[in-house]
Amino acid sequence: MTRRQLLIRGGLAGGGVLLAPVAVLARDTEELGPSLPALPLLPVRRPEPGLVTAELSAGELPARAGGARRLGYSGSTPGPLIHVREGEHVRLGFTNGLREATNLHLHGLRIAPAVDAPFTHLEPGERRMYEFDVPAASAGTYWYHAHPHGMVARQVGAGLLGGLVVDGPLDEERELEAAEQHVVVLSSLSTRPELLVNGARRPHIRARGATLRLRLINAHGSRSLRLALDEPRAPWADRRAPLHLIASDGGLLRSPVEMEELLLAPGGRAEALVRLEREAPLQLRTLDYSPYRDGSAADAGEVLMHLLPPPRPQPAALPTRLASPTALAPPRGARPQLVEFGADADGMFTINERSFAADRVDMRARQGELAVWELVNTDAQDHPFHLHSWSFQVLSRNGRPDRIPAWRDTVTLRPDERMRIAIPFSDFAGRTVFHCHVLSHEDMGMMGVLDVSRARS
Ligand code: C2O
Ligand code: CU
Ligand code: CU
Repeated sequence: MTRRQLLIRGGLAGGGVLLAPVAVLARDTEELGPSLPALPLLPVRRPEPGLVTAELSAGELPARAGGARRLGYSGSTPGPLIHVREGEHVRLGFTNGLREATNLHLHGLRIAPAVDAPFTHLEPGERRMYEFDVPAASAGTYWYHAHPHGMVARQVGAGLLGGLVVDGPLDEERELEAAEQHVVVLSSLSTRPELLVNGARRPHIRARGATLRLRLINAHGSRSLRLALDEPRAPWADRRAPLHLIASDGGLLRSPVEMEELLLAPGGRAEALVRLEREAPLQLRTLDYSPYRDGSAADAGEVLMHLLPPPRPQPAALPTRLASPTALAPPRGARPQLVEFGADADGMFTINERSFAADRVDMRARQGELAVWELVNTDAQDHPFHLHSWSFQVLSRNGRPDRIPAWRDTVTLRPDERMRIAIPFSDFAGRTVFHCHVLSHEDMGMMGVLDVSRARS
């Protein structure tokens, strides 16, 4: 039977509205990929209440037939999922099993610069202890990756990335608890352009429940992803299905926000509830997106993953109240500090007209201060801004206020865009980095040093 005949039969069987699931699956067989691989879980020990110990290592993976050399953590790429709880004390030993220097960055976690240590490189065979408290009210989706300046794009592109989830009390609320959870790591190997989902090409989820909670991680080294859901099965029913955004980079929102599409910066995360309301599959996809001012060199939209509903799906009601992130309100008249992303006459990427120097301080702040930064992109292409150790809230974009209080650590700055952010420099002091999360730009110097001085007591 041809595709077209199946479509018609499916249409008749479903009265033109509901497609019969059997026909749907029959039509799907040629394009239905593997089942979504779950990330392996990093084995942890909890030798006493509140204490978590674990070991992670970077190493080479056996090359696939005809494939390029791949790198991974503890034997896989994406690396194992690090799963911890708010308030736990973590001792994570990290060993460099590569033949070159590397380090480990826990992207988005609010931990002290001295622990994160982005300037520290580990030599082959070296081990370092990452010891920290998982911050209160940080439940959410994070990730980790290699961060040795100059080699970041290559190492992450070879596979040095993994997921991290922090659980908190809100995850036990009924509506969230009822949702079927999946960690969804979007990446690609630098040797092949297509997007992978947990390392697999266009996988599917055969849902047991009718509400999914997708923990989306954009681990791609350069691309901002315009994510959307659609119901592709019948041309007459081709339509967008909503994503119910429940969390941003740094944790849960106040309540779900219904979205037709979501722009996820490289390095950014979002959690979305997906309600499977009909007996027809949905697909998670990207839409066409160009990072350039003139719209050139667009990434063509592609299907990332199929979501197959259970029989007679009955999605749960959406949660009405989630967390309560306070909306930051810097004092009126607070003078923002400028952070300008651009390029110099030689085409080198710069921040405030300078290229990265580890021994120069570019931005200063005082512990306890609520700083306002004005991020400006004067270049002709996207530069996603990312800050280590502290989260921020977007106050406005191009002068228009951002309505939803949400903790962010990575945001895409479009060409000519101007974004005002508020950063509460609470908890700790120290020296760290902020940078463009297009990893090749960071490697080429689009990174600055922030020094937060200790509050006098
Ligand atoms: Cu995800 Cu400084 O990086
Ligand atoms: Cu980071
Ligand atoms: Cu950039």
